[in-house]
Amino acid sequence: MCGIVGYIGNSSAITPVIEGLEALEYRGYDSAGITTISDKKTLTIKQIGRVDSLKPAIDQDGDKTAKLAIGHTRWATHGVPSNTNAHPHQNTSGTIFVVHNGIIENYQTLRAMLKKDGYKFVSETDTEVIPNLIDYFLKAEKDFFSAFKLAIKELEGAYAIAAVYANDPDSIFVARLSSPLVIGVGESAHYVASDATAIMQHTKKVVYLNDYEVAVVKKAKVHIEDLRANINTSREAQELEHDLETAELGQYEHFMAKEIDEGPQTIQSASRGRLRLDGNIVKLGGLESVEAQLKYIDRIVIVACGTSYYAGLVGEYLIEEIAGIPVEVELASEFKYRHEPFSRSTALLAISQSGETADTIAALKKVEDYGVLRLGVVNAVGSTIARMTDAGVYCHAGPERSVASTKAFLAQVTVLAEIALYLSQGRSLLYKPVLKELLQLPDKLKTVLEQAEKIEALAKKYRHYRDFLYIGRGYAYPSALEGALKLKELSYIHAEAFAAGEMKHGPLALIDEHFPTFALIPDGDLLEKTLSNVQEIKARSGPVIAIATKGNKSVARLADDVIYIPPSLEQLQPLLMVPVMQLFAYYVTVHKQLDVDKPRNLAKSVTVE
Ligand code: M6R
Repeated sequence: MCGIVGYIGNSSAITPVIEGLEALEYRGYDSAGITTISDKKTLTIKQIGRVDSLKPAIDQDGDKTAKLAIGHTRWATHGVPSNTNAHPHQNTSGTIFVVHNGIIENYQTLRAMLKKDGYKFVSETDTEVIPNLIDYFLKAEKDFFSAFKLAIKELEGAYAIAAVYANDPDSIFVARLSSPLVIGVGESAHYVASDATAIMQHTKKVVYLNDYEVAVVKKAKVHIEDLRANINTSREAQELEHDLETAELGQYEHFMAKEIDEGPQTIQSASRGRLRLDGNIVKLGGLESVEAQLKYIDRIVIVACGTSYYAGLVGEYLIEEIAGIPVEVELASEFKYRHEPFSRSTALLAISQSGETADTIAALKKVEDYGVLRLGVVNAVGSTIARMTDAGVYCHAGPERSVASTKAFLAQVTVLAEIALYLSQGRSLLYKPVLKELLQLPDKLKTVLEQAEKIEALAKKYRHYRDFLYIGRGYAYPSALEGALKLKELSYIHAEAFAAGEMKHGPLALIDEHFPTFALIPDGDLLEKTLSNVQEIKARSGPVIAIATKGNKSVARLADDVIYIPPSLEQLQPLLMVPVMQLFAYYVTVHKQLDVDKPRNLAKSVTVE
């Protein structure tokens, strides 16, 4: 999705802004641009394509003396990817420049109003109304910040905005509503960004802007106001936790390969200091502040999107089985428009890697006034969801750069298993076995990842198929859903998942020799049931790749190809099976010569509805 970076300080502004935009490339975008201001000289360079393609024009014409710049990577929402629609956008007279993430829902009304007043529009974007609206208010206001605030108050929708003014080369004006914006505090400099990743190579001290806040960011100071309360606000900068190195590619060709490989240490990080075998202790510091409230919770609604939603489905099985609390998992995009009954003894649990997913944020906002407990399982520290929930448990997976979520899923499921144990208060028969097994899983996962070559060979064999079915029962069902999502989002092969028990209710009609199935058949109570489904598929000539437990003989007799996982508890098998399917999707994509880390049409952080 779109990215914002800005710099004001003593050094040339172009370098940190371009570096910041490059750091945001993982989010996905189609065009990029930058505006510099120095001594009232303004220069905008923007075009379709990668940040790299801006560099020749910047080398040739860029204003290296400018100490202020704002930059943007655009992911098209209103209007096609084009040079004209790329940000920054300017007002008709070319004095005000704006970069914007999000969607201005009332832009057509504003545009019509401004057009009547003589403003000219050149792009198809919603963003272009913003500089013109500021200009409109500036005619009557004495200073730019007042006009900026009046304009922001008129905007409906979601936005993170950075604006600069030709007559004020010392300030960046920022605003946010439902879209993240962070201010970085440097040495005689300040940075602004939509994602801390963009600035963490320069500073780890950051201030997150809250909804309805606006700020004037100068070289040596930041002034923040709350637009709703009409008051000045100030807060201490906080330290970013993530290590820059973990966000670098290192020896790997793709972030996805690196992030899959980080699986074992991801499970370890999500358990560190939380699970203690001596004494069988599960300690979740993030939930301690709401411990008393948790005792009265008799229902949990999990909201999430994409991979986080599938992790939520595993969480549903875990929490219900281990803690005995009824759980429902809802797609955040559906939840926010539903009219379901909600009592105070229900807790809402949001799961999100980025902590910035617009639909998940909207789901949390929906229950803001219900007085219910809002919990989070979030990876990005200090993100919007982490800050708007009452309590939560961080995933500690480190930065995830590939658009396809991999290690975050493992961290989420690990944390959800820990939450299930915590909520069970040691009463479940599964308490000790699950706790013990969680600590052994990193080593077990290493043996799964050691089979990468074998999985690559399978990927080569199956990469030409157009469709794929993924099936599983019990804990293997949400795992199958996640496996299918990985394959479709990366390789563009049509893939869908079904609970294996559903095959006879429809999907079996699809099966022939051209329609392979990925069958998840680990050892457990449901093994024989899923084997019968595979038998039915084989009877219709469907090719089958299976995931089975090491030592199992019956699966190999039926399936065309088998990948083995080490024996484990059913409840934790998703943590061993999903990485197999991640690797399969990865290698299919590599051998189809597609962009692994940035699949078409997708963005890492989905900050618009
Ligand atoms: O950052 P979040 O976990 O809230 O993101 C949710 C989904 O957008 C994300 O999982 C998406 O489905 C990934 N592309 C899946 O690989």
